[in-house]
Amino acid sequence: MDERRDVMRILWDNGIFPTTREIDEIMKMGGLSYVMKKIREGRAYEILRKEESKFTIIKGDREFPASSGKSESFRKLFLSRYMKIRKILESRVSLSGSVNIDYGMKNEGESTIIAMVRDIRESKYGMILDLEDPSGHIIAYYNGNDNIFPDDVIGVKGNIRNGKMYVKEIVYPGVDNVSKKEKIVNSENGIAFISDIHVGSKMFMKENFLKFIEWLNGEKGRNVKYLVISGDLVDGIGIYPGQEMDLELSDIFDQYALLSQYISRIKNDITIFMIPGNHDLVRIAEPQPFLGEEIRKMFPPNVIFLSNPAYISIEGFNILIYHGTSLNDLMDYIKGIKYENADTMMAELLKRRHLAPIYGNKVPIAPTDEDYMVIEDIPDLFVTGHIHVHKYSVYYGTILLNASAWQKQTEYQKMHNFNPDPCKVTIKFLNKPGLETIKF
Ligand SMILES: [Fe+2]
Repeated sequence: MDERRDVMRILWDNGIFPTTREIDEIMKMGGLSYVMKKIREGRAYEILRKEESKFTIIKGDREFPASSGKSESFRKLFLSRYMKIRKILESRVSLSGSVNIDYGMKNEGESTIIAMVRDIRESKYGMILDLEDPSGHIIAYYNGNDNIFPDDVIGVKGNIRNGKMYVKEIVYPGVDNVSKKEKIVNSENGIAFISDIHVGSKMFMKENFLKFIEWLNGEKGRNVKYLVISGDLVDGIGIYPGQEMDLELSDIFDQYALLSQYISRIKNDITIFMIPGNHDLVRIAEPQPFLGEEIRKMFPPNVIFLSNPAYISIEGFNILIYHGTSLNDLMDYIKGIKYENADTMMAELLKRRHLAPIYGNKVPIAPTDEDYMVIEDIPDLFVTGHIHVHKYSVYYGTILLNASAWQKQTEYQKMHNFNPDPCKVTIKFLNKPGLETIKF
């Protein structure tokens, strides 16, 4: 009897109010230990799940423990990245018969290799690439205009002579099927996408956000059953110099408590997926784990906390959610690119099958043994945030969306000549191609 009471108390603490029959069911499933396990795993929303789930978390409830032995771990991380992307490249017909670099150097002549770019230098003859695989490395000369980044994993076709490679073609892992069409699902339900709420900032646009919540709860938002938020849920503390001047709430727990008040106003039949961003209370190195229990328990059970990145399927529609911190790195590496070209940068990520391809620039990478930033499966929709612009397009059947923010321009952004485009909500109706945008 005591255990039953404990179960109820814990569920109430987590905003879950079960009926007597539901409690009976929970006791049959394992009672207190079952409930504690679900809460610990951030899956409290599953405790009362009655019907067959309409969504699946394919990747996204991981902690991503980082190793302490740094150099060995980074070696493992890069090897994992190489092997995962190599597997994708090996499935390309044009790369069949690829050989290891040491085999190619011994046998010379026309060769195809799959390599990681160790170094790139520009010369008057074109690019000089240092290419590496687990068997060795080779210097390669290439006369193309591609945007090659350090650490890219690419297929390289060319001629090996005197221990050097003369490159004819570079193949990126890219998308699986270039004639893929946008996925349409037989469902009237819609998914709303927003990002970068920045609760706690003086520039958080609360009136506009409340109008959006009112719309969601009302007749017009009737078909929207899911909400995806791509990180920077709160403004955080100590993120950039002088941030304290921009803060309305200087305690990060107060910021999450206020966010919870807003989120709790959303009707509870909308399932809300949230990932963290660089302003949230988790480690900044990517991949970022989902928010800790002390934050999760502030929120109602229809909120599902995921890691950054996360890969989910909603009614059979696959979505890759990433905060987008690496978009800043791409700005430094792609000539002439602007923040407004978020979709072009996202296409570059899909082309490389990696969410943070440039190591050692602005995005800190955690030394995990496995590389979780590799895009192993091409999604139907790829969403980011972070750069506070609103942009979408379709890239070989995959919708690319940079979801809009809820924060006015900060002094810091003004200094960096950065103009946000806030308060736009993007809706994906599962039975229609494209997206709809509403400005609040
Ligand atoms: Fe942000």
